[in-house]
Amino acid sequence: MTDGEQAARRSQAWFGASGRSGMVYRSWMRNQGFGPEVFDGRPVIGIATSASELAPCNAHLTRVAEAVKRGVWQAGGFPLQFPTMATGETLMRPTAMLYRNLMAMEVEELIRANPLDGVVLLSGCDKTTPAMLMGAASVDLPALMVTGGPMLNGKYRGEDVGSGTHVWKFEEDLKTGRMTQEECFFAEGCMARSNGHCMTMGTASTMACLAEALGMQLPGSATWPAVDSRRMETAGAAGRRIVAMVEEGLRPSHILTRDAFENAIRVNAAIGGSTNAVIHLTAIAGRVGVDLTPEDFDALARAVPTLVNLMPSGKYLMEDFCYAGGLPAVLAELVRGGLLHGDRLTVTGRSVAENVADAENVNPDVITGLDDPFQPAGSGTAVLRGNLCPDGAVIKQSAASPHLLNHRGPARVFDSPEAYHAVADDPDLDVDENTVLVIRNAGPKGYPGMPEVSNVPLPTKLLKAGVTDMVRVCDGRMSGTGYGTVVLHVTPEAAVGGPLALVRDGDPVVLDVPGRTLRLDVDDAELERRRADWSPPPRRHHGGYTWLYTEHVEQADQGADFDFLRGCRGYDVPRDSH
Ligand code: FES
Ligand code: MG
Repeated sequence: MTDGEQAARRSQAWFGASGRSGMVYRSWMRNQGFGPEVFDGRPVIGIATSASELAPCNAHLTRVAEAVKRGVWQAGGFPLQFPTMATGETLMRPTAMLYRNLMAMEVEELIRANPLDGVVLLSGCDKTTPAMLMGAASVDLPALMVTGGPMLNGKYRGEDVGSGTHVWKFEEDLKTGRMTQEECFFAEGCMARSNGHCMTMGTASTMACLAEALGMQLPGSATWPAVDSRRMETAGAAGRRIVAMVEEGLRPSHILTRDAFENAIRVNAAIGGSTNAVIHLTAIAGRVGVDLTPEDFDALARAVPTLVNLMPSGKYLMEDFCYAGGLPAVLAELVRGGLLHGDRLTVTGRSVAENVADAENVNPDVITGLDDPFQPAGSGTAVLRGNLCPDGAVIKQSAASPHLLNHRGPARVFDSPEAYHAVADDPDLDVDENTVLVIRNAGPKGYPGMPEVSNVPLPTKLLKAGVTDMVRVCDGRMSGTGYGTVVLHVTPEAAVGGPLALVRDGDPVVLDVPGRTLRLDVDDAELERRRADWSPPPRRHHGGYTWLYTEHVEQADQGADFDFLRGCRGYDVPRDSH
């Protein structure tokens, strides 16, 4: 064991106890058919399972848990599966993001309150991966993640269709009459034809890859399709490995160092990952005392070309990425190029570079090399500053239109996404292709929960006229599967009085992505006058969890975690319960 830890297992404070307490701890477990031998001091491994029929991307995780269990038994551990909440992206309203921190709290408290020596984290859908990592990092017992894997490629009329990315395309096709409602119903089924999470490089695939890049899941684990038997093989290996990690005392704090986060940021650039990674990585880092700033993301990513040709930035999907060599092939290329801290420790007990020493790229069309990359260095997520976003904003350049990356246009302001949707189909809407659509009050406190509403569809009249993109500026987020010239995460958000709240129709907005600025061309004195007139919008909650959320959520540049959840609170055994 490292760090001079005591030799006795944490779980023995329960199962090794004498007298009344020990009897209570053991006896009720035996109602599940466990014999007395499981209490002999072997490592007790929790399998945190975010399976739920309300989170379709995670629905199959109970089967993955069975494979993990097999591995734990094989290695001499005692596996215990337990459910956590699941923040499913597709059904939860007002947004799954509102509940990420609640899930992280639940994961943290369940690990600490129970007789566990180590934990395997089973996640899938967007928010479930960061929530699990945040919670586990705040306890710091040995932890290993197994993501549930992507769905098989969508197939519609002989074409590959990507989850999320094709929703926006089909929506436009419906609006412009290129597709009938009947065809659309059929296409829905074609897009999601197996278990698993989104198979585009959306937030789920991104966070799965970044969990692997951070060193928190086994090499290759991020990319096996959910229904590929090798995912179950990996899960079994994870079960065996976590038992060894407990023996070795290998904990998240040994793995999640600043270098590990720098690796993850660079990998995010190389895979063309989601803008949401900026928020989630910052929040996870906050749990282990690593301070990430928006500029860290910009500066570190600038040197890294996009190597992976996946939707929404490119044309392939996760299944293709997997068969081409998966994330290990990307990590190996970045190590070769000196772009990663190859010596960083991972859950295997070996370094990043050692893990991928034998990795092979067998399809250079899907995974390009550094010499001839899919997109040049510096084309990923950029961080902007300026009088419209003093604490930062982000834009995903690879998903934007090159001709709009330098743009000046008049603002057309909407106080909510709903206010825009109410007029988006109006043939007389006073907008043209130069207009900058400003959507506000979609930030963490304002919506609340910072939903993925920023890439509003273009006004119907412009779509019909053949306009394919416009600049949009918003304090909310965008789905990792989305695209368009959309400035996101404008901070501070409008609801707390950020300058976005002061924009009026017709104000010139100046976007300069190469120069990394977003400005409102209105003089300071006028903005001060407007600020004096401004009052915060009414809060949209009636107590309960949403009250807690709006009271304590931090801004996007801080990771939108709760102020009281930063840091690690450790794994001390709580006081006795009987
Ligand atoms: Fe769950 Fe995309 S909706 S991963
Ligand atoms: Mg998403």
